Amino acid sequence: MEERKIYEGKAKILFDRGDPRTLVQHFKDDATAFNAQKKGSIPHKGAINCQISAHLFKYLYGKNIPTHFVDRPTPVDMTIRRLTMIPLEVVMRNQVAGSLSKRLGLPEGTSLPRPVLEWYYKRDDLGDPLVNNDHIGILGLASTDTLSTVEQISRKTNDILRGLMASKGIILVDMKLEFGLDAEGKVILGDEISPDTCRFWDAKTGEKMDKDRFRRDLGQIEEHYLALFRRVVEHDPEF
Ligand code: TMP
Ligand code: ASP
Repeated sequence: MEERKIYEGKAKILFDRGDPRTLVQHFKDDATAFNAQKKGSIPHKGAINCQISAHLFKYLYGKNIPTHFVDRPTPVDMTIRRLTMIPLEVVMRNQVAGSLSKRLGLPEGTSLPRPVLEWYYKRDDLGDPLVNNDHIGILGLASTDTLSTVEQISRKTNDILRGLMASKGIILVDMKLEFGLDAEGKVILGDEISPDTCRFWDAKTGEKMDKDRFRRDLGQIEEHYLALFRRVVEHDPEF
């Protein structure tokens, strides 16, 4: 089969395998943080993230969230629908952590009275700045209608995944989502949902089970990614 690499990012590669409706998203073990100033590799991360993402996309599809997931032909490859990506990152937060803690001077772990949604403009050269609806409008990144649909899907996705993770004894502290438009202009959830793009804390011990272990040099990164994989995917009857 003809295969053409169309994009290589920090953690994934996108391949065109000749199907006009789909692409293949390949998950790498490479890890970066702080706009790629810190680089490394986490053994088995590609397989863990691909399988956790596939599992969560399937779960969300069952709850009427439109996602780009088609299938997972290998442990590190996901077939996805071709989308025109919106150059925004949507961060949903349930507890204070990371940049919100720094920006507002609130301690990490503070519960938020309601979920907080933030928009970031995907521009590596600008360091992905925080933007508001007016900024998005003047840059022409998305229409008002699209933006309100993205917001609605993001909030629903957060509610669904927060509940799912709670049932496994894990707190969904925050997460980053990305969206695209299909050929008909329908808003679809894309990218990945994994410990690289979410913060997951053990509800009992508070232990971090996500990329903060890499960002903050906390050690035992692979062990915690694997433990998360087991709790989220392995014990599920569908797996
Ligand atoms: P932050 O607290 O650093 O803004 O991160 C919020 C959430 O977004 C956290 O779950 C990690 C995720 N995230 C990404 O997936 N990619 C990024 O480039 C950044 C900065 C955060
Ligand atoms: N993945 C991003 C980067 O390399 C940031 C992060 O997740 O911390 O810059």
